[in-house]
Amino acid sequence: MLKPKIRIAIAGSSGVIGQRHLQHVLEEQDAVLAAIMLAISDCDSNVPGVAKQLNVPFFKDTLDFIEAYKAGSLGADAIILATPTHTHVPLTKQLAGLGLAVLIEKPVATSATEGRDLLRACQDDEGGVYMVGHHRRHHGQVRAVKHAVDSGSLGTVVGVNGVWTWRKSESYFQVPWRQRVGAGGVILTNAIHEIDMLQYWLGDISEVYALEGVKTRPFPVDSTVQITLKFASGPIGSFFLSDATTSGTSWEAATGENPDFPVTGEPTLSLFGTRGSISIPSLTRFHYDNRPDAEKNWNFPLEMDDTARQLLDTVPPFARQLQHFIAATRREVEPNCSISEALSAVFVVEAIFKSLESHSPVAVDRL
Ligand SMILES: NC(=O)c1ccc[n+]([C@@H]2O[C@H](COP(=O)([O-])OP(=O)(O)OC[C@H]3O[C@@H](n4cnc5c(N)ncnc54)[C@H](O)[C@@H]3O)[C@@H](O)[C@H]2O)c1
Repeated sequence: MLKPKIRIAIAGSSGVIGQRHLQHVLEEQDAVLAAIMLAISDCDSNVPGVAKQLNVPFFKDTLDFIEAYKAGSLGADAIILATPTHTHVPLTKQLAGLGLAVLIEKPVATSATEGRDLLRACQDDEGGVYMVGHHRRHHGQVRAVKHAVDSGSLGTVVGVNGVWTWRKSESYFQVPWRQRVGAGGVILTNAIHEIDMLQYWLGDISEVYALEGVKTRPFPVDSTVQITLKFASGPIGSFFLSDATTSGTSWEAATGENPDFPVTGEPTLSLFGTRGSISIPSLTRFHYDNRPDAEKNWNFPLEMDDTARQLLDTVPPFARQLQHFIAATRREVEPNCSISEALSAVFVVEAIFKSLESHSPVAVDRL
């Protein structure tokens, strides 16, 4: 029997990521667009015109949407919050208890305190479904590395080394919230992706030490940071991030994930284990599997295995994430990722900020 389509509203549909969500909802055969909304201050944009074109209701605020939903004048099963980071917790709290499925863009919260508050508001809401948009979990590269780690083909993972660097445009920073500490910045906006991905593969990060680089723009937000990481399961690692450098070694440039940015294919991240190592984006696993034990060392040529690439496909991660969200809305699967999983990355971010302040290593708080 054909399942009814899931009616999805989008808050922030005119934003950078909101437009991508909108496109995927429009293309998804199991979804139908229920409404779009954006901030009152942005209402001079062409969004009302887009709503008319798409023949969907348009709201100047999520509160107006909620009113219409409660009054029964609007049907919806789910909502995507593609709004600025500092709005995620207040907006999700407004939606709690309405029986909607909510897909919240990352990061789920700006601080651990705010995140705990959100968890309290949502954890007893059995009628709601809450999922956080850590979309990389739905990317073939991340799935391939997860398979390599979980299958033991890397042996014991002892370390990770990553880099996320390129140069954001001047127009990016013309949006005020992106200049503000506690809303924008390379840590909350970009490192959060890397942290969630690393913890998805290797479990909790238990300790961090971070140093901030020079600020080359006239904004208070962080832009360049070096982070040393320790995982509770044993591995150690480091990550260098900067949005101010002329370079192409970001995840997006490496993988070509985002159609808005040019691809370099340059390596962005490597995992090192006792039995093998693997990097993104090549996904080549280096190993000595077919050599006798006495030859499994640096004196002998490494073997190369490309089977991890077989897990790559052409489905965009946002499309796969949307399909997963639809299945979660139908209660067919548990959301990947849940609020508490997403909070785990926020706790690491909080420890990074504390380390920047104290100039010392900081243990990561946990729920
Ligand atoms: N998953 C990813 O790869 C990815 C990429 C970019 C951004 N993001 C995240 O998405 C969020 C949005 O980022 P962006 O760069 O697209 O932002 P943006 O500033 O480009 O767009 C924000 C949108 O939200 C709307 N908005 C603001 N307040 C609102 C409110 N109270 N109710 C309804 N709509 C409201 C604005 O009108 C605008 O349409 C951020 O949290 C960011 O971290 C995720």
